[in-house]
Amino acid sequence: MASITSVRLARLLGSWRHGGPAYAELAERLRLLSIDGRLPDGTRLPAERDLALTLGLSRTTVAAAYGRLRDLGALMSVRGSGSYVALPGGPALPAPDASGFLDLTKAAMPAAGVVEECYGRAAAQIGAELGGSGYELLGLPRLRVAVAEHFTRRGAATDPEQVLITTGVQHGLSLLARALVSPGDRAAVEQPTYPHAMDTLLAAKARLVGIPVSPDGWDLEAAEEAFAAASPTVAYVMPDFQNPTGASLAPEGRERLARLAERHGTLLVADETTALLDIRRGPLAPLAAWSPTSVTLGGLSKLAWGGLRIGWIRAPRSVLARLAQARPALDLGTPVFEQLVAAELLAREDLLVAERRTRLAAGLDALTGALAEGFPEWRVTEPDGGMAVWADCSPLSSSRLVVAAHARRVALTAGPRFGFDGAFEHRLRLPFTASPDDLSDAVAALRAASTSWSAGPADAPLITV
Ligand SMILES: Cc1ncc(COP(=O)(O)O)c(C=O)c1O
Repeated sequence: MASITSVRLARLLGSWRHGGPAYAELAERLRLLSIDGRLPDGTRLPAERDLALTLGLSRTTVAAAYGRLRDLGALMSVRGSGSYVALPGGPALPAPDASGFLDLTKAAMPAAGVVEECYGRAAAQIGAELGGSGYELLGLPRLRVAVAEHFTRRGAATDPEQVLITTGVQHGLSLLARALVSPGDRAAVEQPTYPHAMDTLLAAKARLVGIPVSPDGWDLEAAEEAFAAASPTVAYVMPDFQNPTGASLAPEGRERLARLAERHGTLLVADETTALLDIRRGPLAPLAAWSPTSVTLGGLSKLAWGGLRIGWIRAPRSVLARLAQARPALDLGTPVFEQLVAAELLAREDLLVAERRTRLAAGLDALTGALAEGFPEWRVTEPDGGMAVWADCSPLSSSRLVVAAHARRVALTAGPRFGFDGAFEHRLRLPFTASPDDLSDAVAALRAASTSWSAGPADAPLITV
């Protein structure tokens, strides 16, 4: 089982004191870290005395916090062995998909209108596939052709042999990490970034290096410094409607990033999960058009439906061969039926883009309107597309807001989940994928949550390490 040192836990805790009883606030923050995955199930926490020393608290306070978590079923202590995080199961925190819960932890939409029709079309085609073995390690040839055309149309000429079909983008990421990242490798990721990409790279034992990004764009000077200092093996970026900031990298930025990666021999990995969720930006060619050696991850989860579980990897042939070789240890291919559905969907890409644009534009309007009314003091930059706003909720603590909103049956992800080492405590990702009514209700619940406790003293770091 993994364990966490008291110094690292202190960083993850960030500024957690808000003027209430210290043991209760410490327990609350530890619980949030466990719920949102920053403290994985089964992680061994530091001994009470160590954590007390690092946080400048009495041992009794830490013992009381651990005791509270034990009472909630969120911590298991084994005599002589330590205290382990246990995932919530108790009544205190119902799962966000329980009825009456508004789940804004997922930036995802119901299936687009044309999805059902495409399932029907695939059903009429599956018979012709049943005579084969059904094992397609690289993907159905028909879908590989459709994906290659998708890239070529968008400005990155692609051969079907450069395409591997995956079971969703997350699966593609796991395959990449397994095949191309070795323990101790440096991996550059945007800060903030998509949390499960960080999880995947950390699971491959990579050491993360940050590339700062905000709704105003990428800090490429900082990226250059980070690359010079660390020479990362891979750099994972989202050039279009970055999750969570919504920022897009301009063509000059794509060129600069491509050359930077080239100079350092870094494998550039572009995640295009959100690339076609344009509201008012207009199309931009994929990063691959600037960097022929880069790898692109894409899929249909956001454009069509997450339940389809179809993604793809576009890569130079030599990289694709390594991925194909590594794949059987993970799985032996993606379901054929869903690949047929995906090929039908890609033939209707324009329709999907237009439908998502309409829904997302309405959601963005509803959310920013409700925020302007409910939280006029927050800084909210409207993105040109994507699925979420990355609100600056200063001086409120994002983690505290998330806990208070949970009590009002709104589930959200706290800002620090998108970073490493406790950053982004004053940032909140708010997806606008829900219906306008639900979004207004969610902001009203947040407003009520934020007024039911005082913001507390200014957030100052407790320790400097
Ligand atoms: C940036 C990014 N990459 C990957 C994924 C996972 O995609 P999939 O559902 O295709 O596995 C998501 C899902 O939200 C995402 O936002």
